Amino acid sequence: MKIVIVGATGTMGKHLTSAFEKDHQIIKAASKGADIQVDITSSTSIENMYKEVGAFDALICTAGPTFVGPWKKLTDKEFRQGVEGKMMGQINLVLIGQHYINPKGSFTLISGALSHEPQKNFANASAANGAVEGFVRAAAIELENGIRINAVSPTVIEASPQYFPFFPGDIPVTMQQLEFGFRKSVLGANTGQVIKV
Ligand SMILES: NC(=O)c1ccc[n+]([C@@H]2O[C@H](COP(=O)([O-])OP(=O)(O)OC[C@H]3O[C@@H](n4cnc5c(N)ncnc54)[C@H](OP(=O)(O)O)[C@@H]3O)[C@@H](O)[C@H]2O)c1
Repeated sequence: MKIVIVGATGTMGKHLTSAFEKDHQIIKAASKGADIQVDITSSTSIENMYKEVGAFDALICTAGPTFVGPWKKLTDKEFRQGVEGKMMGQINLVLIGQHYINPKGSFTLISGALSHEPQKNFANASAANGAVEGFVRAAAIELENGIRINAVSPTVIEASPQYFPFFPGDIPVTMQQLEFGFRKSVLGANTGQVIKV
């Protein structure tokens, strides 16, 4: 399979790249330092990425920038980081990518447990995750040619210890559990699902 990983240079993306590249052709995309540069906050940049990639079988997105910080600092400006980034960035990857993806292809987006288990400092991510999950359920009944779409929703992952203090009581998700959530979406038959890991 030809799989595009947007966010391939990040914590999740690096792990998923090395896991999937054993059996598949991986195209790594990120805002810098990858095979292909893309800024998911720009629909023009996304269109250019797809033109460069050509036809593909699956897209995984682990790029989902949001504002993380105290409630007192959360204003319209900061909130738009998640709206333009994690929410519209991922939605546009699908709205534009549906015209390039092969029939029976799949999109797998990144959400997170914050959609249903809020934590302090993460209101922007909670809202963006909720939007992404709603979009995934709706897009699944609209996408044509057998194209599937799911979101993977982990709590804090073991490779991000800097976030552990913000998720008291949560047992970190192992990188293998995270990877298997993505495997379920990319290699399975489900669509419209939020895959909790
Ligand atoms: N880490 C966790 O514990 C955890 C748990 C649950 C959910 N999540 C969610 O999972 C996602 C990824 O987490 P992560 O820890 O892997 O993040 P990360 O290490 O910061 O990696 C983010 C990746 O996305 C890329 N990226 C960021 N903004 C972009 C943009 N505008 N256009 C294109 N690429 C962009 C980055 O590339 P550049 O550096 O080149 O910009 C990088 O490759 C986030 O949405 C986060 O909310 C994370």
